[in-house]
Amino acid sequence: MRRILIINGPNLNLLGSRDPDLYGTTTLAELEALCEQWASVHSLEVETFQSNHEGALIDRLHKASGVVDGVVINPGALTHYSYALHDAIEAIELPVVEVHISNVKERESWRSHSVVSPACVYTIYGRGIDGYRWAIDHLVHRTARSPRTLAYATGTDHQGDLRLPDTGGPHPVAVLIHGGFWRHHWTRDTMEAIAVDLTNRGWATWNIEYRRVGLDGGYPATLQDVGAAIDHLDELSAENHLDLERVFVIGHSAGGQLALWAANRHRLGEDDPGAGPRVLPAAAISLAGVTDLETAETSNLGNDAVSGFLGVAPRAEAYRVASPMNLLPADRPHLVVHGTGDDSVPISFAHSYVEAARHPGTLVELLEIDGADHFDPITPSSSAWAAVVDRLSTL
Ligand code: DQA
Repeated sequence: MRRILIINGPNLNLLGSRDPDLYGTTTLAELEALCEQWASVHSLEVETFQSNHEGALIDRLHKASGVVDGVVINPGALTHYSYALHDAIEAIELPVVEVHISNVKERESWRSHSVVSPACVYTIYGRGIDGYRWAIDHLVHRTARSPRTLAYATGTDHQGDLRLPDTGGPHPVAVLIHGGFWRHHWTRDTMEAIAVDLTNRGWATWNIEYRRVGLDGGYPATLQDVGAAIDHLDELSAENHLDLERVFVIGHSAGGQLALWAANRHRLGEDDPGAGPRVLPAAAISLAGVTDLETAETSNLGNDAVSGFLGVAPRAEAYRVASPMNLLPADRPHLVVHGTGDDSVPISFAHSYVEAARHPGTLVELLEIDGADHFDPITPSSSAWAAVVDRLSTL
């Protein structure tokens, strides 16, 4: 991948002054400059284009065919009705990532539907202008190691990306569980950088999606999905030479809660959600994880994220079933990785979890990373990730 095109559709020339509460204060020129900066990290050249006219956008897409290696497009309101744009995206046979600055699924109902999505390789929304950075990164990662996207059940979110190393099997498996405080605008692309890195290091990676709050998810559906996604490895193992004795679950942030849960769910009661696993992880790695739902809820972590996740579930029951802290003691290795500079999930979550797990021969180990922020543990170029990789090989 050497060259990408960033396209913005109708009214995005007004960025900076148009409804700043929704779209922020960054102007289009500033956004385009930022895209160049974000792309240069990957040594990519960038072309940019904006138009308020459907035909001009279609002509620009046609011109991109064979010239650039991928496209990031924010089609503006055309998203919701332009089948012509859908057809143009489909016709050029380039990977196209759809991006929206605002949370289109939490606005007027007509904005929640995109007619271009089916022609795009991925859709990112609700992350502000940072969404363009995630979109560029996604293009890079899917080109570096193209995944096979496989369904583990029937819903649209019941899928995962399988990446296999070049070496012969059986492969150890890293199940990657993304975070985002269980909210639907955060998806598995956030784990792709480490998916690619681990695959390059000889791991099969299974980067899973799950139903999230606001889109049929939350407790207990989210837990059931994570359990089903891991169990699905049973069906994938023969064809893909997966070593089911060496399945490690690695979760980031809220995904840390889900990873620690997944490594302990075999001790749930048989009627509890997600009980009775078919594939049992050999170890769990929590990266900047939410290790304790009760403390997270009472301290309003992430703008009341836990209240959204647990909804109306009776709390004593939900904490018992879903909170890593309540699932102790661990009976397999747990690595708890946290940066001292994390201001999304404070490091105190790691400290109290490891403290509660402390007993002779404890299997729960803390890896405290000096100065690391919330995203460092999922950033391959960081010293935090280097420390994780180092430790992973000895688990
Ligand atoms: C938008 C969302 C669209 O619904 C809207 O018409 C836009 C911008 C976004 O970036 O959030 O113009 O694509």
